[in-house]
Amino acid sequence: MEVVPLSTADEVAALAASTIEALVRTRPAAVLGLATGSTPVPTYAELVARHRAGGGPSYDGVRVFLLDEYVGLPPGHPQSYRATIARELTDDLGIPPDRVRGPDPADVPTAGAAYEAQLREAGGVDLQLLGVGTDGHLAFNEPGSSLASATRLKTLTAETRHDNARFFGSVDDVPRHVLTQGLGTILRAGHLLLIATGEAKAEAVAAAVEGPLTASCPASVLQLHPHATVLLDPAAASLLERADHYREVYEAKPDWQGL
Ligand code: GLP
Repeated sequence: MEVVPLSTADEVAALAASTIEALVRTRPAAVLGLATGSTPVPTYAELVARHRAGGGPSYDGVRVFLLDEYVGLPPGHPQSYRATIARELTDDLGIPPDRVRGPDPADVPTAGAAYEAQLREAGGVDLQLLGVGTDGHLAFNEPGSSLASATRLKTLTAETRHDNARFFGSVDDVPRHVLTQGLGTILRAGHLLLIATGEAKAEAVAAAVEGPLTASCPASVLQLHPHATVLLDPAAASLLERADHYREVYEAKPDWQGL
């Protein structure tokens, strides 16, 4: 795992955007795995700004797979992750809805297997952008999720529903159930790029990066992946014991290596 403590949240967004752009330049038909939530919003804004300025790659061949989706929202609900990603990124990059896939909450019993099949047919995700929950969840894999899990129905913890209440009228409006890629699904992506900003994520980041590999911290599954990169702002990196070493490694890194 490569841990990159950066100086600001803007640097996290800029480097995440550059990593996505570099992939799309070398692989115009790239399959991007995208996260929702607040953390990637500045990264998406950066990608859109560069695209509008004419400096970004063409997204004409890119396909997108979402990490997860709420169950029980009316179709088209603005807080559904399908609507969210269209609003925040894909519409502005010119990626049409038929090239954006997500687990289908309209048919929960078959959604998991169907999504796994779609991912396989697409040849798998090349780069998976990830955030992390304050309880260490990855996508919507809450603590206790199998490290080998596939896409399936999950129940949110009270902590996650409380964290996500800001997107809804109140915590009571946050769905209890979700469909999420499993940890085993996420592990099949070619490159995992986790971004975390803010003090609220410091504990989860430390547990994921320096704690034991455990289902109690689903994000610790990154330790099993051969190509995982973690971009952090100072607040999110604040509880890491080896932060100085990670910084030294990154600063001394040869340019040809990239992320
Ligand atoms: C959400 C999403 C995750 C996200 C995480 C952190 O509920 N399902 O994909 O990474 O929780 O969210 P945020 O970035 O808003 O803190």
